[in-house]
Amino acid sequence: MSALFQPFKLKDITLRNRIGVPPMCQYSAIDGRVTDWHQVHLAGLARGGAGLVVVEATAVSPEGRITPGCTGIWNDELGQAFAPIVQAIKAGGAVPGIQIAHAGRKASANRPWEGDDQIADGDPRGWQTIAPSAIPFGAHLPRVPRAMTLDDIARVRQDFVDAARRALDAGFEWLELHFAHGYLAQSFFSVHSNQRTDAYGGSFENRSRFLLETLAAVRKVWPEHLPLTARFGVVEFDGRDEQTLAESIELTRRFKAGGLDLLSVSIAFTTLNAKVPWGPGFLGPIAGRVRREAGIPVASAWGFGEPAVAQKALEDGQMDLVLIGKGHLANPHWPYQAARELNIDKPAWVLPAPYAHWLSALR
Ligand SMILES: Cc1cc2nc3c(=O)[nH]c(=O)nc-3n(C[C@H](O)[C@H](O)[C@H](O)COP(=O)(O)O)c2cc1C
Repeated sequence: MSALFQPFKLKDITLRNRIGVPPMCQYSAIDGRVTDWHQVHLAGLARGGAGLVVVEATAVSPEGRITPGCTGIWNDELGQAFAPIVQAIKAGGAVPGIQIAHAGRKASANRPWEGDDQIADGDPRGWQTIAPSAIPFGAHLPRVPRAMTLDDIARVRQDFVDAARRALDAGFEWLELHFAHGYLAQSFFSVHSNQRTDAYGGSFENRSRFLLETLAAVRKVWPEHLPLTARFGVVEFDGRDEQTLAESIELTRRFKAGGLDLLSVSIAFTTLNAKVPWGPGFLGPIAGRVRREAGIPVASAWGFGEPAVAQKALEDGQMDLVLIGKGHLANPHWPYQAARELNIDKPAWVLPAPYAHWLSALR
């Protein structure tokens, strides 16, 4: 059978295939609460055939949202609002996952289609951002964040723990900690955004501390039999790539020792000067290196939307799970399309019967 359509078992959870939908913000929540949009969107993705559907970056506290339209899970009511979505994802045959997140200095922004820029100072829709150091991201996000106190750090760590418990209560079976993309956790690890002189900044050990402590605290409430994963930007593409990657691989080994079950290998996005070598499957070799050298299952995204590219990344042992983002926005039945393109016998089996019956006849 094709590599894409092999089941994937992690802890007690088995995905029906190696295709995952990565978290994708919809900017369509109201005061953090999911809406009908999320229900329809996520149910459709699960019905489309992917093995895993991960709900978008969902903020562990109000100030951790990227935009006012981002989903939140900072109280039990917001958590329970996900329960029908979890049921719909399961009914579609996929495993329901959620990414829990804090946007740090990249918070308090307008929605992408409303400018993607910082909400203006004084606009009541915006808020004071927090970060390891009082260094703004710059360009379209100029707000200077407040440098976090040790109390802030302890509070946000606990917010992640509470969010994990609520995700579990809502029925999620796969948890992803957002340690990537220049948001709060990534900004602790990066020298571009962390200039602290206390135990949370400076050396590799210190820059890793917030991430490792958060993982350890979440691991205590997230059941051992369910996958606990993180998305982490292992490389900055800032010209220091070998050094950053070596540090990231070492940190991933520590994540593994701390109970992480899979790393979603991504990009750091902490500096405006990054030169990302965009192209089909460009992150695959890096993901493969993390997988080999840290000895942990990995997933990866960015440019695997051509089925042959996705299939090859799996065949080459670069990753255990391939994440298809925009490909799924373009076509929620991406797995079916992939099965057809790859000449897989009876591709319609990836669809539910009311579709499969008719689409099988096409072949
Ligand atoms: C609309 C949209 C929203 C996104 N939101 C998130 C998010 O919430 N969390 C995250 O880690 N990545 C997010 N991403 C990045 C995607 O998960 C994915 O890595 C990216 O789209 C690259 O994969 P692709 O080339 O298959 O689209 C988002 C991407 C898009 C297009």
